[in-house]
Amino acid sequence: MNFFFNRHRYSFRDVGMTTDIHCHILPGVDDGAGNMDSSVEIFERLYNAGVKQIVLTPHVSKGIYPNTTQILVSGFALLADFIPVNLKDALSLKLGAEYMIDDYFEEITDPLVYRNNTILIEMSYSSRSSNIMDVVFNLLNKGYNPILAHPERYVFYQGPGHHTPNRLQELEKLVDMGCALQLNIQSLTGSYGEGSLKVLKYLLDHDYYSYIATDIHSAGQFDLFKDFKVNSSQFEKIRQLAVNNDRLF
Ligand SMILES: [Fe+2]
Repeated sequence: MNFFFNRHRYSFRDVGMTTDIHCHILPGVDDGAGNMDSSVEIFERLYNAGVKQIVLTPHVSKGIYPNTTQILVSGFALLADFIPVNLKDALSLKLGAEYMIDDYFEEITDPLVYRNNTILIEMSYSSRSSNIMDVVFNLLNKGYNPILAHPERYVFYQGPGHHTPNRLQELEKLVDMGCALQLNIQSLTGSYGEGSLKVLKYLLDHDYYSYIATDIHSAGQFDLFKDFKVNSSQFEKIRQLAVNNDRLF
């Protein structure tokens, strides 16, 4: 079925996501929420769209966001003290992190993980981590369950013009090894371009994704989630990804 035909219009709420597993709402530690007011605004928007459980996943990258587990744990404790009571009662929050796979990643000995030792990793959008295969192999050997964030956003997996499946062999290999893939909801809207949509379609139609997340950085970004078009079979797969999220909380 062609991705661009027989499509229907859906919104974030239609997906029925009750658990968001990837977002940047912990204030002041990365390029997400800059202060407590911004955090609260994002929490309110997610809650109003049906999200009840949220894992906060600030960037950890030695060069750009040198957050340690200790820094993030302290920030998370402060957030719990300042968050308004109505939100505190309505939402269940946990702390995770989104780890950049760089030359320093394997020095981290106490990573923040989801349930079942599941860990969220990412690469730079424009430049592939040369050690990605080794890192995933080592993580699996150590008993972690890696999730690669937003594979559809990496430009090095997107062919110029027509989609070239051999570019995606590495992603297929990662999945075969046991690395899960996480779709960004905003990618469905086409915000990241035609190349990204083609990778997304390929991964979705071949059932390579396991999870879906907002990866939200600001309240305004929420407006970009409200409208996307997929066919009904793709939509059912997307809904299932949202159900899978609950297993990680
Ligand atoms: Fe992220």
